[in-house]
Amino acid sequence: MKKNNALKSKKVTLLKKKLKSNNLGKPVKDSQLETTYMVLPEHTNALGNIFGGTIMSWIDVTASIVAFRHCRSVVVTAAMDEMSFLHPVHMADLVTLKASVNFTSDHSVEVGVKVEAEDPVTGETNVTSTAYLTFVSLDSDGRVLPVPPAIPETALEKQRFLAGQKRYEERRKKRNSQHK
Ligand SMILES: CC(C)(COP(=O)(O)OP(=O)(O)OC[C@H]1O[C@@H](n2cnc3c(N)ncnc32)[C@H](O)[C@@H]1OP(=O)(O)O)[C@@H](O)C(=O)NCCC(=O)NCCS
Repeated sequence: MKKNNALKSKKVTLLKKKLKSNNLGKPVKDSQLETTYMVLPEHTNALGNIFGGTIMSWIDVTASIVAFRHCRSVVVTAAMDEMSFLHPVHMADLVTLKASVNFTSDHSVEVGVKVEAEDPVTGETNVTSTAYLTFVSLDSDGRVLPVPPAIPETALEKQRFLAGQKRYEERRKKRNSQHK
C-alpha cells in the first residue's frame, strides 16, 4: 500500500515536471464553450420566471465541461464566487452561457461564465449573470493533480488572466484567514 502511494506521488511529481519543462500549456480558445438552453415550464416558478438554482446548475455544468476539456482529467467544483441575477428570465427565453478558462494556478482552473437571456420574439438580449468557478483536477484516488497552464492569446484573454490571478490570490487570502 505504502509502495503504491509512493509510486503515485512520484507519478504526480513527474507529471508536474513534464508540464513545466515542456511548457505543456493549452490555449484558452481550445476549451471555450457556448451553449444555449430554452426555458421550459419545469424551470420556472409561480411567476413564470426561471429558478436561480436552474441557472446555477447550467453554469456549473457548462464551466465544468470547459475545465474538463482544459485538464483532460476529472475535475470537481471547488468554489463558485458570489453571483447575482440582474434580470428576470421568462419562460421560452433563450439562455446562452459563454464559458472560458480565465486563469490557471498550479492546481486549479478558474472558468468565467457569462449568462445572456434572449427574448426569442423581439431578440432583446440582457446579460443576467457573470460567474467565476474554480475547479480542481483529481486522480482516481481523490488526489489533487497539476493543471496544464492556460495560454491566453488575445488581449481580452490576457486581461481576463490577470483579473483571474487577482481573484485567485484574494480567495487564497480569504481561505487562509478563515483557517487561522
Ligand atoms: C476541492 C478540493 C479537492 C481541494 O482540496 P484541498 O485539500 O484543499 O486541496 P489543496 O489544498 O491541495 O488545493 C488544491 C488547489 O485547489 C485550490 N483550492 C482549494 N480549495 C479551494 C477553494 N475553496 N476555492 C478555490 N480554490 C481552492 C488551491 O488553491 C490549490 O491550487 P494551487 O495549489 O494552485 O493554489 C476539496 O476541497 C474537495 O474535494 N472538495 C469537494 C469538491 C466537490 O466534491 N465538488 C462538487 C460539489 S460538492
